[in-house]
Amino acid sequence: MSELIAIYPGSFDPITNGHLDLIRRASRMFTKVVVALTDNNDKNPLFKLEERRQLAEKAVAKHKNVEVDVFSGLLVAYAGKKKARVLLRGLRAVSDFEYELQMALMNRNLDRRIETLFMTPKDSYTYLSSSLIKEIARLGGNVKPFVPPVVEKALKKKFIRHR
Ligand code: PNS
Repeated sequence: MSELIAIYPGSFDPITNGHLDLIRRASRMFTKVVVALTDNNDKNPLFKLEERRQLAEKAVAKHKNVEVDVFSGLLVAYAGKKKARVLLRGLRAVSDFEYELQMALMNRNLDRRIETLFMTPKDSYTYLSSSLIKEIARLGGNVKPFVPPVVEKALKKKFIRHR
């Protein structure tokens, strides 16, 4: 059987339980899922790309068909290099849709072989976002229910120094 590879791209600053829920679901549908981290030019990340990669790697370690990688440049070019035709993106709410639709259509325009597959997270994770989690952690709130333990630890370390 030929390999069915999906790329799950994002900034993952940091990876959350919402991302992990999507990764778990996707890992059952594809032979390989590549969690592909990059710098989003519109965002100023809290964690450096290498820190984000390490956190993601630890968080997905139990999924044997999930790989973590970093890329730069165009996502469709990276997908081509990885021999993947499917891009996975999470849709939490209608507010995500406009940006996601624009990216999906643009990516298809850049490479017509690429399909974007939208997945919905478990309902209890629909309100989760890396930005909210960073804000909660920065203000001393409890992020334990929302992120894997490695990320909770890394956030604590980051903000103890900054407070
Ligand atoms: O988690 P994010 O920040 O919403 O992810 C956005 C990301 C990284 C998927 C997007 O910025 C991206 O694809 N960047 C790679 C550069 C690229 O291909 N840009 C054109 C997208 S249509």
